[in-house]
Amino acid sequence: MTPPKDIESRISGLARSVTNSLNLSTSPTATFTSPPGSFHEPTRGSFSMPTSKQLKPFDTKDIKVLLLENVNQTGVDILKKQGYQVEFQKSSLPEDQLIEKIKDVHVIGIRSKTRLTERVLSHAKNLIVIGCFCIGTNQVDLQYAASQGIAVFNSPFSNSRSVAEQTIAEIICLARQLTDRSMELHNGTWNKVSKGCWEIRGKTLGIVGYGHIGSQLSVLAEAMGMSVIYYDVNNLMALGQARQVHTLDELLEQADFVTLHVPETQETKNLIGKDELKKMKDGSYLINNARGTVLDIPALIEAMKSGKLAGAAVDVFPNEPAGNGDYFTDELNSWTGELRKLKNLILTPHIGGSTEEAQSAIGVEVSQSLVAYVNEGSTQGAVNMPEVNLRSLTMDEPNSVRVIYIHRNVPGVLRQVNAILGHHNVDKQMTDSKGDVAYLMADISSVQEDEIKDLYQSLEGLSSRIRTRVLY
Ligand SMILES: NC(=O)c1ccc[n+]([C@@H]2O[C@H](COP(=O)([O-])OP(=O)(O)OC[C@H]3O[C@@H](n4cnc5c(N)ncnc54)[C@H](O)[C@@H]3O)[C@@H](O)[C@H]2O)c1
Repeated sequence: MTPPKDIESRISGLARSVTNSLNLSTSPTATFTSPPGSFHEPTRGSFSMPTSKQLKPFDTKDIKVLLLENVNQTGVDILKKQGYQVEFQKSSLPEDQLIEKIKDVHVIGIRSKTRLTERVLSHAKNLIVIGCFCIGTNQVDLQYAASQGIAVFNSPFSNSRSVAEQTIAEIICLARQLTDRSMELHNGTWNKVSKGCWEIRGKTLGIVGYGHIGSQLSVLAEAMGMSVIYYDVNNLMALGQARQVHTLDELLEQADFVTLHVPETQETKNLIGKDELKKMKDGSYLINNARGTVLDIPALIEAMKSGKLAGAAVDVFPNEPAGNGDYFTDELNSWTGELRKLKNLILTPHIGGSTEEAQSAIGVEVSQSLVAYVNEGSTQGAVNMPEVNLRSLTMDEPNSVRVIYIHRNVPGVLRQVNAILGHHNVDKQMTDSKGDVAYLMADISSVQEDEIKDLYQSLEGLSSRIRTRVLY
């Protein structure tokens, strides 16, 4: 998850410079000992298999990598281990400096502040791949990048566990009114009450959207003694004792806690509004850690004021500030003042996925995608290219080469490409397209080293060519 300071403002005047962070409470120890499973370096794809052949591009000596915006050390280490020349910078660069730097590199790693526009990318003659060490990719002109044969990777699911854990914390805090009690005591008021405070054991959790986050949450909630029901547009296998319900209404009518984990789409805009809130149980709770557009907040304010809901937690908002500071006001969203006054309402600044573990996992996931793309041409997980992958070449295939031909998606290309490759034995081949761009990968055997250049030049000569890579 990117830090909240990276979120772009849609409100004019808010994109001023801001401090990096406010006075935050600190952990007793700066480094937490996480269980190894939470962010160790998993083996991905085949490039780590001992018998797989380490491929290298025939026309490039050293892979040059530019990493901006202080990407996580886990990612830097993986790229360095590959022998790439890695330049690491803590901040983003002004556009002119970025243009100078990007001319030379094959790989660039960014977070959300660096804008890779058409203007910038048009200077990136050697660039083959972009790694967004974050969730979002709208800082990159994805279509232009694809049209230049530049693949883009991100890390959409590295923070799923962090969001699921925050949701569990909120369920308990809401049931026990913990944040109100804490706030009162901070203000000097001792208010020891048990009325309206509940255990969560035996209560029903309704999860809307049973994807990466929803399903993790399902397991955690059951371990706390909750019954779990979920609603999803897809028919999904239940984990543990959880039960899928057929309609959203069914879920709203049965759940003591409703939590939203759906993506932001046309269909999910105001998924929970006035009518849906009415269908919820009296005294139930609502949590939105998904996207700001999914919940109609004025309707939530009414439901809280009327006592229909006993509490709510909101982590995401239709408009969010560009940086940290005193920006959570009516200037941001017109109802902010009303929202801030409500009791047993947990408000958090889009931090559901913001943990050290998630940052490490992002570093690992994106770097591994970059390595798999540079070394083997795999586009698995790319956001702007079709997903193409072949099993690795092995040490038993010394004269085999991997050909990658990124081309315009027009009729007749395969015939021309196969006429070129057909002089050799094509052991395996895969092609797929996404919009105007198609990606072909083929492993061909019995290729002598002096034939590789001809092969490359023949493919480069085709009119459909966007980019050719030959790895051997
Ligand atoms: N608060 C944060 O910091 C934070 C961090 C990460 C992700 N998120 C958000 O959490 C949400 C869920 O993320 P995820 O990784 O679990 O996504 P996911 O794609 O893995 O799962 C989403 C699920 O929602 C289902 N779905 C889609 N439309 C639906 C609809 N109309 N009704 C019911 N179900 C529907 C899908 O079938 C899918 O199973 C996303 O909006 C994501 O942006 C927030």
